[in-house]
Amino acid sequence: LIVGASRGPLAGRRVVITAGPTREPIDPVRYISNHSSGKMGYAMAAAARAAGAEVVLVSGPVAIAAPVGVEVRGVVTAQDMLEEAGKAVDEGCDLFIATAAVADYRPDSCAADKIKKSDEGMSLSLVRNPDTLATIAGRSDAPFTVGFAAETRDVERYALDKLTRKKLNMIVANDVSAPGLGFNSDNNAVIAFWPQGREAIGPDTKSALAQRLIALIGEHLNQKAG
Ligand code: CTP
Ligand code: CA
Repeated sequence: LIVGASRGPLAGRRVVITAGPTREPIDPVRYISNHSSGKMGYAMAAAARAAGAEVVLVSGPVAIAAPVGVEVRGVVTAQDMLEEAGKAVDEGCDLFIATAAVADYRPDSCAADKIKKSDEGMSLSLVRNPDTLATIAGRSDAPFTVGFAAETRDVERYALDKLTRKKLNMIVANDVSAPGLGFNSDNNAVIAFWPQGREAIGPDTKSALAQRLIALIGEHLNQKAG
């Protein structure tokens, strides 16, 4: 058990954060995944911890170290992520932040043996994965929920659509088509949207962005509770 610090805007708060990519197995040696490094989620976890929260980080496979004082629970698939995040929220959660780049689809089955190549092309049959963020935000005991949206165009329209459709308290959008920002980079620029407003943050380091976002989320959370 990791207990939060006694000071800071998130003192006494329990925070669950998802981060990293998921991997969806095709056969024992192959999977479908994406370019997520986990850096933004890990930076959010470190910033939440520094703001006094008790933090559980539900993380897909990444190559970065756990922030000091943060409990990491490793997952592989989107289905694992839904299950582990659900359990972590059941344990008590004031704030849920979804930064994970969850695979939207998985192979309908995982082959028992390594698939051998043939001279023909091949196709994979994919099925939809569950949406962890929408599931948590839709609970009757939903915590304050924050989503992230990486877009390559129409950033504002898609972000606002996700804010409403998933019933979120806030969504943090970034344009991944911007050169040198976003996926795998140490820098990013984002716009946070909530039902009555917005704030553009950066370009800056992911660590600085995370600190500002956690301060902003803290203001909203404490307003809601107060
Ligand atoms: N998310 C999630 N579980 C999924 C898909 C997405 O928890 N199966 C979360 C992400 O962690 C992120 C938010 O939902 O916080 C938005 O993810 P995004 O991929 O941008 O949205 P989708 O609803 O999957 O829409 P699309 O990929 O079509 O843009
Ligand atoms: Ca998606």
